[in-house]
Amino acid sequence: MSSTNDDESSPIWMATVSAPTNIACIKYWGKKDAKWNTPTNDSVSVTLDQKDLRAVTTAAASIKFEKDRLWLNGEEEVGASDSKRFRACVDGVKALAADPSKWKDLKIHVSSYNTFPTAAGLASSAAGYAALVAALAELMSAKETYQGQLTTIARQGSGSACRSLYGGFVAWKAGSAEVSTEGGTPWADSMAVQIADENHWPELRAVIMVVSDEKKDTSSTAGMSTSVATSTLLQHRIAKVVPERMASIEKAFLEKDFESFGELTMKDSNQFHSVCADTYPPIFYMNDVSRTIVRIVHAYNKWAGETRVAYTYDAGPNAVLYTLEKYVVEVGALMAHYFPSPATATTAAAADGYFNDSTFAND
Ligand code: DP6
Repeated sequence: MSSTNDDESSPIWMATVSAPTNIACIKYWGKKDAKWNTPTNDSVSVTLDQKDLRAVTTAAASIKFEKDRLWLNGEEEVGASDSKRFRACVDGVKALAADPSKWKDLKIHVSSYNTFPTAAGLASSAAGYAALVAALAELMSAKETYQGQLTTIARQGSGSACRSLYGGFVAWKAGSAEVSTEGGTPWADSMAVQIADENHWPELRAVIMVVSDEKKDTSSTAGMSTSVATSTLLQHRIAKVVPERMASIEKAFLEKDFESFGELTMKDSNQFHSVCADTYPPIFYMNDVSRTIVRIVHAYNKWAGETRVAYTYDAGPNAVLYTLEKYVVEVGALMAHYFPSPATATTAAAADGYFNDSTFAND
């Protein structure tokens, strides 16, 4: 945290934090409590490399500021600071501040940049809200009274954001819908936990194929709410499929078993998009190019006689391909052959997260 010294009597306190995006292998899709964003099922994701896909956020506080304000990619989002999501993050972190009385009456200015398309299904909200909560926590030297409190705050911004607070392989345990607010700070058993850190599987890579950078027409929040109300496949997924897959994929990741990890990741992406198709009216996030990439991946793995690359798609048409370092060039060349213009964008590895930053120990 730093302060500008132009006016000693009313300094501007500032902190800048960068948070990576995360891409789920077992998808979160459905809320059992909309206020706290408590999910209907466990999910698990890989936190991507800080360098490539991230949100960089500065939070500033001063008695000089008249109201809370938010800028996104350089443009002010008028009214956004009154939104339920933003308020939950700001007020939630204020309650955990080392000295709450210092920050109580100060207004907050937030400026955030994404290094990738916003709202195109590349988990920009995950990085954005994780960076917001992390920047505020840094600014106010917030400390968790109970493990998982900052993840409870971040998930109110966007559910998937809670996983971006950690690096490596991160599960979000659904827990129960109850949240205790005893003592003024929330605590719940629904929280993000690190399964393996970013050093566990350094050969793992993600290749991002930006199929479209347009904003999606059905937001995740609206889409999953309709799925919960109408999809019977989602109910089967919650009760039967996800619990089994969570156990298997955690084992595969810990054993660095790419064959199983890749297969489970692809099957879960396919089921998530099947749930979208089973939603009434149906939701379509993938497009023809997305489906062509699926076919190429399966043909390539069949030719190789093993799973060398695995696709996954969030709420948008863009592909994230997990592979191993030794196949990155081959996978990149394969995709460049079919999509000669600039589709293949970035490679990134499992990365560090906020809680591994030495400036803020998770104590
Ligand atoms: C398909 O976290 O964006 O990416 O909690 O309503 O803000 P809200 O939804 P959000 O949904 C992410 C859905 C997903 C799967 C995942 O990341 O697990």
